[in-house]
Amino acid sequence: MSTLNSEEPKERFSLKKRDFGKGFKWGVSTAAYQIEGGHQADGKGPSIWDIFTSKSGKIYQGQNGNIACDFYNKYEEDLYLMKDLNIHNFRFSISWSRVIPAGVGTPNPEGIDFYNKLIDKCLALGIEPWVTLYHWDLPAVLEQKGGWTNREIITWFKEYVTLCVKRFGNKVKNWMVLNEPLVFVGAGYLLGVHAPGKKGMKNFLPAIHHAALCQAEGARIIKQYSPQARVGTTFSCSFIEPFRPIQKDILAAQRIDALVNRLFIEPALGMGYPVKDLKFLKKLEKYQLPGDKELLQYDFDFIGVQNYTREIIKHSWFVPYIKARNIKAEKRKVPITAMKWEVYPDSIYQILKKFNSYKKVGEIYITENGAAFKDILEDGEIKDKRRTRFLEEYLAAVLKAKKEGVNVNGYFVWSFTDNFEWAEGFRPRFGLVHVDFKTQKRTVKDSGKWYSNFLKSFK
Ligand code: BGC
Repeated sequence: MSTLNSEEPKERFSLKKRDFGKGFKWGVSTAAYQIEGGHQADGKGPSIWDIFTSKSGKIYQGQNGNIACDFYNKYEEDLYLMKDLNIHNFRFSISWSRVIPAGVGTPNPEGIDFYNKLIDKCLALGIEPWVTLYHWDLPAVLEQKGGWTNREIITWFKEYVTLCVKRFGNKVKNWMVLNEPLVFVGAGYLLGVHAPGKKGMKNFLPAIHHAALCQAEGARIIKQYSPQARVGTTFSCSFIEPFRPIQKDILAAQRIDALVNRLFIEPALGMGYPVKDLKFLKKLEKYQLPGDKELLQYDFDFIGVQNYTREIIKHSWFVPYIKARNIKAEKRKVPITAMKWEVYPDSIYQILKKFNSYKKVGEIYITENGAAFKDILEDGEIKDKRRTRFLEEYLAAVLKAKKEGVNVNGYFVWSFTDNFEWAEGFRPRFGLVHVDFKTQKRTVKDSGKWYSNFLKSFK
């Protein structure tokens, strides 16, 4: 049970970095569109997020990532700050349309140069780069050809990955192919609340299959050109529990678990899609070609698990295909973050146990975990006790799993600075570092100071 709502924690955590072991990687996570800005700088092409944010009514207060944290211009300053805070692992993504503006064809030397400079600076400062190849910003030109619904995406994606690994593979050792495929295909191609704003099963199903194929094909390309590389991919994961201990709700929870936690990892492990629990996935057959089952498989060096919360699920006749709905945290009178997500540290423990129980899953990294809270900047300080407490409690749950034998070897806070939170705009603040989006001034929050001290405690 979280103590986040109580005024002051009753007892202090005695969490120590050393308890996680020497080789444990500690870092922060970000994504290109959420921080870079420079949306038209130096030959960058438009991405689906540039297009989506320009449409009215899609994003909170019509905001966009045109400037965001201006990381494109301020990356050096941010990296120095990261180093000062004792953070030595940095997860960021490459913007596909910055390096290949039209998605395929002629690369953009200036875009490539930007990532070379970023990577070089990281290495010079003793910060290990962890690179995500796709964090949701598809080149807009490719979306005009159907984007993730078009099987051609496999060819486009392979070309993009080949470029990245050839240009950066001698310096980058840790790669993640996709960021949370369920979220970008679900929000972008089923619900239409994220770019490119498409809806319906006719878009969702092919997008699932093509993303799952790219997940494995991208990994094979990295290994082909950089055999020493460590290749992973990341998943959004939530601990799922039934609302009541009755058969209907238990089955509903199983369906949501299959959708949220199993849909993309199981085909990679050679287990196929979780069709038994989610009957509508049978329709994926329409998009499958002979040999796809093998193509979907890849033995990743590590799996990136991203967890924020848990979901409570109830059976519902009214929701098509899944016949289930979640009971909002607000209605359950539990502690919540500014995203209205339940604070439930046990969720990360349960998810770690679950992923570790797949025989073929080796190393696991928590590639995202963190919380948005309303921050108050007063006299140059942000006393974000709740965020610190959140991180301590979730980390304690990670440690519990590790002590029980879960092969978890790293933890990345989402996120380094406040940034553009997709459809929610700049309102939810997830950073360890506050950003004044008018002046671009950075202010380290108390949670950032806490993380820094924690990381200093033992090298
Ligand atoms: C995504 C991030 C996002 C974070 C908080 C994850 O789903 O990878 O891009 O900002 O969660 O919502």
